[in-house]
Amino acid sequence: MVLTSAGGLFISIEGPDGSGKTTQARMLQEKLEKRGRRVLLTREPGGTSIGEEVRGILLNPLFCEMTVPCEIFLYGAARAQLVSQVIRPSLEKGTIVISDRFIDSSIAYQGYAGGEDPEMIHTLNLWATAGLLPGKTFLLDLPVEKGLERLQSKPGEYAGGDRIERKNEHFHRRVRAGFLQLAKQDPQRIFLVNAEKPPEKVHEQIWGQVRDLL
Ligand code: TMP
Repeated sequence: MVLTSAGGLFISIEGPDGSGKTTQARMLQEKLEKRGRRVLLTREPGGTSIGEEVRGILLNPLFCEMTVPCEIFLYGAARAQLVSQVIRPSLEKGTIVISDRFIDSSIAYQGYAGGEDPEMIHTLNLWATAGLLPGKTFLLDLPVEKGLERLQSKPGEYAGGDRIERKNEHFHRRVRAGFLQLAKQDPQRIFLVNAEKPPEKVHEQIWGQVRDLL
């Protein structure tokens, strides 16, 4: 079921680095709030004090020795806390929760790109979130070189990019392919969006779907 019994809706926005997720999450939040809906915007890794601390460890380019299993547990730890402290209680109050990334990111980055078993990451994360998956996921897709180009012009948290953004182009190609594979496997939940278009056009594609869900 997409809507919770209290009328809440859990939406995630996914995509490779530089795909414009954060802009789209904010545009969607604004549109829904203008229509009188209560909206909570959160991000992964992060969204709680614990999660934001974990984010600092995960993305710090100084920790270049971090193994993929270590990443899986840290992303999963931040996610477990976010779901139990913030997402679930909000959904139970009928709030619309928009998360900038969720489980699909772990499967694409640590699984398809990082070389660990996607099924195992899926199972581990469903345990961490007590089975919570988004009712709808928007996958913002664009060619890898376009995403990396956008990153270079955007002032990020770390000069020169965070630890994940700094990985080579082959890694980012596998991330994109992984996301596309996930969209193919779960077309009911994951809606593919052409993120090469201007932000307003991308927003229209997303809004068309969300409007139908409410
Ligand atoms: P952001 O830049 O979209 O805030 O995300 C932080 C980085 O963390 C981004 O490069 C993607 C990466 N990431 C993973 O590798 N696995 C995950 O599970 C999540 C949520 C993010």
